[in-house]
Amino acid sequence: MGLVDKLNALKRDHAISMHVPGHKNMTIGNLEQLEWSYDKTEITGLDDLHSPDGVLLELNNLLSKKEPGYNAQAMVNGTTTGILSAVHALKDDVEKFLIVGDAHKSVYHALDLAGVSFEKVNFDNLLEMSVGNTAVLITYPSYSGRAPSLPEVIEQVRAAGGTVIVDEAHGAHFGITGRFPQSALRHGADIVIQSYHKMLPALTGASVVFTKEQALHNRVMKYIDHFETSSPSYLILASIELAHQFYNDFEDEVFFQKRAELIKSLEHRGFSVTKADDPAKIVLNIEGVSPYLLFDALNRKDVYSEMVTEEGVLWCLPLFHEGDNYPLESLSGRLDELTLVEDVRNEVQEDLSFLLGRPAVRAVVPYPPGIPLIHEGERFTEEVIKSIIHKKSYHVKIEGIEENIAYYKVDDA
Ligand SMILES: Cc1ncc(COP(=O)(O)O)c(C=O)c1O
Repeated sequence: MGLVDKLNALKRDHAISMHVPGHKNMTIGNLEQLEWSYDKTEITGLDDLHSPDGVLLELNNLLSKKEPGYNAQAMVNGTTTGILSAVHALKDDVEKFLIVGDAHKSVYHALDLAGVSFEKVNFDNLLEMSVGNTAVLITYPSYSGRAPSLPEVIEQVRAAGGTVIVDEAHGAHFGITGRFPQSALRHGADIVIQSYHKMLPALTGASVVFTKEQALHNRVMKYIDHFETSSPSYLILASIELAHQFYNDFEDEVFFQKRAELIKSLEHRGFSVTKADDPAKIVLNIEGVSPYLLFDALNRKDVYSEMVTEEGVLWCLPLFHEGDNYPLESLSGRLDELTLVEDVRNEVQEDLSFLLGRPAVRAVVPYPPGIPLIHEGERFTEEVIKSIIHKKSYHVKIEGIEENIAYYKVDDA
């Protein structure tokens, strides 16, 4: 089946989205205002994304009002471009990078390309460290919606002469009302990068980088120009403007009411629902049932989740609002028809013990969430091999593992 056929099949089956992007198959937000004819390039009057002084500067100025005191730059190639650019903007000025929490692969790609040294640290240990002239890169919130308290950490790092970059890919909706966690923008981080496309109703690829100081903003812009396409999609850019208006206008009553009803109906059907700091993230389980089996059962009903791990099935909830078209009723019907069939496990017989103790030639990254299990150069341990076999038996996509296998198999032959 070709790609267009596959997408049409999902449409025909009325697939239900509990995953990113935040417009949930165009049922949330205002993207119906976009027209295909908006797909233009940087012609007269449409400005230059990497040196904006017209309509795109106006867009950036609008975005910068999210938090007074910040510069903003719209991007079309996701938070990945923002992370690459932020790391490069700081690489010559800091002694090293401290990576806090489970960072996405784009962070390690940026560090690798920049050729800088880094250390991984635990969020809780950060307050006890003397950071000095470092760049501290914090992933906030986590993929599954954990949002630890930031003010003290940011204040302390900055007071010690450090620079704080926050990968807020999953938090573009933070601060949308007082019942959601605050963005790191509110706490004065130096650079904050948000994927508008993940949790707000914007097109995939839509992101924004916010920078506090003008000189740093200028350096980030230099690298955005290096890394980002020079043919930006005006559909994506226009979707950022619409998503930002959505953010400004959002009222949360409908969201919290529908969310409460959904959680109640899930619990009524025997699900256990784990809530996160971010009210738009929940993790589902059914006692005695493997999360992988549950994930598969939902897929078979055309209810697509964001991710499955040992902790459960992650749902990114729609930002329900007055007048949204999200198919909650249809979801309810499909949950009633859910059948948990025989185990989806495919016992992996492969012997990977030959990898033990050998340095990875490529990072090994379960995807999603895109957080490396081991980095290039790190040695395979028994625990890592066990985890790979376990994930493989549940059909989890693991980037980089086949390259390692092929490399060492040839080496052994
Ligand atoms: C924590 C985190 N940071 C960064 C990224 C990259 O964001 P984008 O897809 O907008 O490039 C992701 C993508 O999933 C992510 O989960």
